[in-house]
Amino acid sequence: MMESKGSHKWTKNILNELDINPKIVVCAKKAGYVSASSILGASHNELEEKLGLSSFHIKNFIDAVTSHVLPKKTSAWDLSQTGEGDPKHITLGCQNLDNFLGGGVPAQGITEMTGQSGSGKTQIALQLSLCAQLPPVAGGLGKGVAYICTESQFPTARLQQMVKHFKAQHSKGPASYTDGIFVHHIPDMDSLVDCVRYQLPCLLSQRPIGLVVLDSVASPFRAEESNMENKNLLYTLGYQLHQLAATYHIAIVAINQVTSVIGNNNLYGHSGNVVPTLGLTWANLVTTRLMIGRTDSHVQAEQTEGSRQVKKSSSKTIVEYNVRELEVIFCPWLGKKSCPFVVTSKGIEDVE
Ligand SMILES: Nc1ncnc2c1ncn2[C@@H]1O[C@H](COP(=O)(O)OP(=O)(O)OP(=O)(O)O)[C@@H](O)[C@H]1O
Ligand SMILES: [Mg+2]
Repeated sequence: MMESKGSHKWTKNILNELDINPKIVVCAKKAGYVSASSILGASHNELEEKLGLSSFHIKNFIDAVTSHVLPKKTSAWDLSQTGEGDPKHITLGCQNLDNFLGGGVPAQGITEMTGQSGSGKTQIALQLSLCAQLPPVAGGLGKGVAYICTESQFPTARLQQMVKHFKAQHSKGPASYTDGIFVHHIPDMDSLVDCVRYQLPCLLSQRPIGLVVLDSVASPFRAEESNMENKNLLYTLGYQLHQLAATYHIAIVAINQVTSVIGNNNLYGHSGNVVPTLGLTWANLVTTRLMIGRTDSHVQAEQTEGSRQVKKSSSKTIVEYNVRELEVIFCPWLGKKSCPFVVTSKGIEDVE
């Protein structure tokens, strides 16, 4: 993939250009961390260990490097002046779902996709990761994807199955879809916040990325006890994601899980018996909240590879798919409504 024009600033020695404690410069030089790319590409713990400095000094070091190389924050006024304020969208590859969402998944703010286990959140995120790489004329952004996995291994086999069908349907895409998806596995909450604060900006500055998927935001935070420190980290995560979305004009999709509640709970914008996890701190950081769920309906279709057979007629095999629903819980430019879809071996498909 091509590197951007400004990539030199990431690879050159910047230590003497930083306004920091000279002790940090000496230690960084000795440990070989001289370029923004090597410094921001390392984790906080790694730098602490290799430089032999305190956490406080490392934080100063990273903050100084970040503000030295990252673009200035863009205000709403700047955006309105440059005409870049209109949200672009990434197609979901399905006409009905795209129309329903006003063009697809917006490249603006944070789009949350929440729903029960097995509802289809990861399937949608995978399809979106392919669609993002289509050229704008085909509804994509013509850019790559940063896919951050926090729950399980990235579903490579399923992605490859989807790629095969996707390529047959879209002639205008890149030669290799998998090369355009940068997968990063994150084990815990601190690493996730570090990744979004330092490693992700580094990647976005060096590669043409149009979509960031966080699958999921829930598990690292749910695994830890809910306390004030975690709420602050969650806020930092959301704030940083917003900054990145506005600076680089990218789509951010954060997958969330749900938790059961007794009775209706409209506080989180949903009236069912499940609500998205992470509470109001996170809900207030989300721009568009989408809920995905299975329905009781099924549709029948001709069999494609990997689908469950239900009956065989003389010439073709018929399979049955569970109809799922994508529901808008809240979105600044869409009303509350829902749209059906199915998950097949090809990926996400409209219900006709
Ligand atoms: N090749 C396939 N063909 C048909 N349906 C499939 C295929 N692969 C996955 N599915 C459907 O997708 C479902 C899993 O969806 P997905 O992995 O997106 O769930 P999820 O919402 O991400 O769940 P979790 O919260 O556990 O990660 C399966 O239960 C199955 O119904
Ligand atoms: Mg999943």
